[in-house]
Amino acid sequence: MILFKKKRDIQEFIAGYHQKNQQVGFVPTMGALHQGHLQLLQAARRHSDLTVCSIFVNPTQFNDKKDLEKYPRTIEKDLELLEHQGCDVVFYPEVEEIYPEGTGQGSPYDLGELEFILEGRYRPGHFQGVADVVSRLFDCVRPDQVFFGQKDLQQCSVIAHLIATTPDFRHIRMHQVPTLREASGLAMSSRNARLTPEQLQAAPAIYHTLLHLKEHLVPGDLTGLLQQAAERLAHAGFRTDYVTIAETDTLKECTRWDGQTPVSGLIAAYLGEVRLIDNMPLN
Ligand code: PAJ
Repeated sequence: MILFKKKRDIQEFIAGYHQKNQQVGFVPTMGALHQGHLQLLQAARRHSDLTVCSIFVNPTQFNDKKDLEKYPRTIEKDLELLEHQGCDVVFYPEVEEIYPEGTGQGSPYDLGELEFILEGRYRPGHFQGVADVVSRLFDCVRPDQVFFGQKDLQQCSVIAHLIATTPDFRHIRMHQVPTLREASGLAMSSRNARLTPEQLQAAPAIYHTLLHLKEHLVPGDLTGLLQQAAERLAHAGFRTDYVTIAETDTLKECTRWDGQTPVSGLIAAYLGEVRLIDNMPLN
């Protein structure tokens, strides 16, 4: 496994693979790796000749400074896990390498409505930061195939939009990998490491609330069902940003369901200071 810290070095190395017509697969991460990340890496290995993983805690996508400061950093363990998984290349740049001109907002991306709904509504600027860093990382790695987790469903839509609307990226094939969960149902997340043992006990209520939505979804008005879901979360000690049902393809929120349109349940909620998100296709 080779570790690069400089953009020019990784670009040069990868250009050699493109010359040999090899497929480059890329998994961008912010580190503190868990089995969910490693599942993306396994998918990348199946679809590519060269598997690249980046570890970069991107300051521009954190709307909450405390969240950025407390984001877990476990680089030594991450490198061990990646090596063990057969990752070929790790890109681990400093902030200055990715943002040589500083992290002040550059020119904004047109992400349409996606920027302002759900996560965008509660984390202003978050998806601008994600689009910006992913563009910069794509520019460093020049991947053919990229791998993202459905746990961050709206992020998947943002990246799909970025690929579709950026001529330099249009050849990239994006793969969406299903959410990996703990035995308790809790979606694996780097932020879970910040939960106390009591909070870890309470956290699977998000998953059970999504299951409740799935089991009780019927055509017609959804208000009552969503009210029950909100109550379940409050009862488990969550402070909820949103619990909602949205069209899976557009992420537009629904107050009624026609019995046919594919819909997903989506939740963002705090346990103490830790904000967790999860989602599930409901039909
Ligand atoms: P991070 O939260 O580290 O996640 C990296 C990738 O792992 C994302 O595509 C995410 O959806 C996926 N992932 C996280 N938990 C997962 C789980 N339980 N099952 C399956 N996949 C999971 O998402 C980011 O980093 C950043 O926003 C990034 C795209 C790297 C840009 O900075």
